[in-house]
Amino acid sequence: MNTAYKKEIWDQYAQPFISVMPSQMLELNTAVATLATGNVCDFGCGAGKIAPFILDNPNVTSYTGIDYSLEMVKQARWHLQQFPQKKSEIIHAKIECIDTEAYDIEIISGITNSIESPGYDFGLSINSYYTWDNSNAVLETIYNALNPNASFVLVTPNKQLDMVSLLEKAKRELVAHPYFKTFKEQNMALVGNEKALFVDMDKLVEQVRKIGFKVTQVHQVFYDGGLNFLHLKK
Ligand SMILES: C[S@@+](CC[C@H](N)C(=O)[O-])C[C@H]1O[C@@H](n2cnc3c(N)ncnc32)[C@H](O)[C@@H]1O
Repeated sequence: MNTAYKKEIWDQYAQPFISVMPSQMLELNTAVATLATGNVCDFGCGAGKIAPFILDNPNVTSYTGIDYSLEMVKQARWHLQQFPQKKSEIIHAKIECIDTEAYDIEIISGITNSIESPGYDFGLSINSYYTWDNSNAVLETIYNALNPNASFVLVTPNKQLDMVSLLEKAKRELVAHPYFKTFKEQNMALVGNEKALFVDMDKLVEQVRKIGFKVTQVHQVFYDGGLNFLHLKK
């Protein structure tokens, strides 16, 4: 079992992570946000950096983020309080346990107090898959959480990801940022982990099809080819 990415790693990463958004990440987040619709769930949401872009999309009704790092969850909850235009909430849980375990939920804004899942119309997961202990179990949970015909956008690094080059480009805009040095070191450590699940597109397509997803589009246009981007349908 892959246990290399303990949640304490993410706890340490939370403050630099919410503070720094290189252009390449901004481009990715805005592109995914334009695809979102209805009730949206972000699986492995981190600090909810994509949330403001999703909430700005007029087709979106609500945003829910799920993450198992408490520090990420705290940052995400703070983050959503800054963008109270629609109902949003952050669930503190392991994705693969949302069906089975009690979890901690806090509604950030909006009108409902129900913790029942509305059934999501759109799911996304960005740069989380490569750290999952049991990717089949997580993908199955996501599949079950989505409504019939819902879309799911899965984005995760492949073996071509060149973090040194990406960070060198980011340095041009962020060199004086107080958290950039830590952000760089932590990103290098994350991708340098020998247990990282960097999978080829073919393998990933095969895996999501076995779970039951239909594949509508795949490409590698973000992060200079270093990300597998899959647009799937339930
Ligand atoms: C690199 S961060 C990406 C965060 C966010 N998706 C983004 O792009 O800004 C990966 C996140 O996945 C979360 N994560 C990893 N495995 C998880 C799991 N099984 N359940 C819930 N969260 C998980 C980590 O806590 C971390 O916050």
